[in-house]
Amino acid sequence: MKISENALLELLNEQDLTFCTSKFTPSQLAHLYVSSALLIEVMSFIKEQLWLQDKLDQDLDIKTTYEKFISPFFLNELKEIVFLQEFLIKSGSGNISNVLKNAKTIEKNILKLIKTRSKDDMKSFLIESLKEMKSHFLSEEKFKEAQDQSLGYQGLRLYRTFDRLDDIFNLNYSLDLNMDIDRVTKERLYQGSGVGVQSGYSTILLALHRIEAEVGSTVIDLGSGYGRVGLVCSLLRPDINFIGYEYVPHRVDISNIACKALGLDEKLDFKVQDLSLKSFKIPDADYYYLYDPFSEETYKYILDQIIEISTRKKVTIVTKGNARGWLSDIAKKYAWPKAVYIDESNLCIFSSL
Ligand SMILES: C[S@@+](CC[C@H](N)C(=O)[O-])C[C@H]1O[C@@H](n2cnc3c(N)ncnc32)[C@H](O)[C@@H]1O
Repeated sequence: MKISENALLELLNEQDLTFCTSKFTPSQLAHLYVSSALLIEVMSFIKEQLWLQDKLDQDLDIKTTYEKFISPFFLNELKEIVFLQEFLIKSGSGNISNVLKNAKTIEKNILKLIKTRSKDDMKSFLIESLKEMKSHFLSEEKFKEAQDQSLGYQGLRLYRTFDRLDDIFNLNYSLDLNMDIDRVTKERLYQGSGVGVQSGYSTILLALHRIEAEVGSTVIDLGSGYGRVGLVCSLLRPDINFIGYEYVPHRVDISNIACKALGLDEKLDFKVQDLSLKSFKIPDADYYYLYDPFSEETYKYILDQIIEISTRKKVTIVTKGNARGWLSDIAKKYAWPKAVYIDESNLCIFSSL
């Protein structure tokens, strides 16, 4: 068993959760963070499933024991955290809320602690956490693919499980609440939406994994929001260049502050830019990321520029939403290869020849 797995079990068994974690390395703290965030999601999932089981038991006039109820999950969606099986069985159904509360405290304490450490420690913590998160998302994707699609996926979802990692980047979405927007703009600025419109960590990590960007290549996020995509990419792939363009200035400021705080600014840059302006031309890049950013008119203007670039060099477009249909037409017209769908078809990836 990993030190972090042991530590998590020890912490969960302790009454006092104001633990001394100074003995842990950033990488051990990362494992501990990922496990505690997972446990929070798992306990909420178990709570929900137990409620369904109880209803079914009532209908059938039977009583399923907690061990019998919980064990099959560890053969399937909870396979990755089988080290918690014994503990969860022992703590019983009456303790679910308590375990959930303790896992939340552990997660909060780790995030607080890592923010008191050096820049290098924070960076190592983030890199290790992201790597481990990626492996969980990949397993989840595989597991979902193996499920009977016609029934729809009903199991554990890790989509928002690691959102609190934003604390380390200091991504303060509350600034969106008082957004002073230009009432005449036709752009989709998602005012007030906060974290909801940023790519989830799962989406970013699965996309980065799939594109296998070459060393020295350039990725551009068109409508970069709070910079999550660039921050994650630069941490995991410091060998690639990343530019994010974003209309809303406070989002760009927050992105750049996070980037500098982690010393990522050599290859990562966020710029304030209204991409609909005819005075601005998109620079050449190898990869363009478009997470549903634009009005139809701007989308078409941007796609025309990317098509022009694709006549000179190979480009890959990672996209969501509206652009999918338009890009399928473009791909057909220019005989590009078939698009690849990932993240439960949330994203599709088009590449030119
Ligand atoms: C859905 S968010 C995606 C943010 C980020 N790319 C991500 O995936 O986490 C789209 C962003 O595009 C920005 N946007 C919309 N129109 C824009 C324009 N004309 N120029 C630059 N950014 C724009 C919005 O302000 C918003 O922050």
